Amino acid sequence: MADFVRVADTTEIPDPGKTLVEVDGEMIALFHVEGRYYALDDVCTHDGGPLADGELRDHKIACPRHGAKFDIRTGAALTMPAVRATRAHDVKVEDGGVFVRLRADATATGPAAHASTGTSTPSVSPLPAAPSPATAAPAPGDAASGTLCEDSIREMLKQVKDPELFVNIVDLGLVYGVTLEPAADAPGKQKIGIDMTMTSPACPAGPQLIGDTKRVLGAHADVAGVEVRIVMDPPWTPDRMTEAARDQLGIF
Ligand code: FES
Repeated sequence: MADFVRVADTTEIPDPGKTLVEVDGEMIALFHVEGRYYALDDVCTHDGGPLADGELRDHKIACPRHGAKFDIRTGAALTMPAVRATRAHDVKVEDGGVFVRLRADATATGPAAHASTGTSTPSVSPLPAAPSPATAAPAPGDAASGTLCEDSIREMLKQVKDPELFVNIVDLGLVYGVTLEPAADAPGKQKIGIDMTMTSPACPAGPQLIGDTKRVLGAHADVAGVEVRIVMDPPWTPDRMTEAARDQLGIF
């Protein structure tokens, strides 16, 4: 196990307050709240946002990029779009200094030793439950022959699910627009355009979501082509999710 490393004097960080420190070559967000110190990776698990730059409120830090909140005591992800904990590290106070020891993994039991004087084990909030799988979607062929309209297309798109969140792209609020136009080269068929956003510009699930969208819609007998247009303005925000998505993710 790594050793504790002195990272700051206790007088350097106001209460409440935060700062960025380096421990064994890693950037760590250090927090001071209600007389205790906490240390997290300076990395939002959604898309790498710098947590030390976020807004600190009580024991929560909000990622400055898309607003995901983390519990500074455990690293637990509390709100979308982050669903995985960030690493929390051990902290102790000795001889007027704050010391941090890196832990190997994200933890469900929380780090040890945060008190302003000496060490102690804080109370720990459990990680939020993993999102349950989405309600069973219709099989790909179920909607493949009905009348095409915006509503039926949105219904079909509920088969396309974010691979990390297990929630469909319609309930996540990723589908900004649907267009249909007659296909000039295929009489009686339609060309479909989908304006779709992502939860972040570098969303790793993007290529899969685009591919699944084309596959699901392209299976309809009356579709001659599918174009997916990625739109980042206005940016996605968690309030675009439906109640169904919030229920699935345990967000109230
Ligand atoms: S990078 Fe942190 S919420 Fe997106």
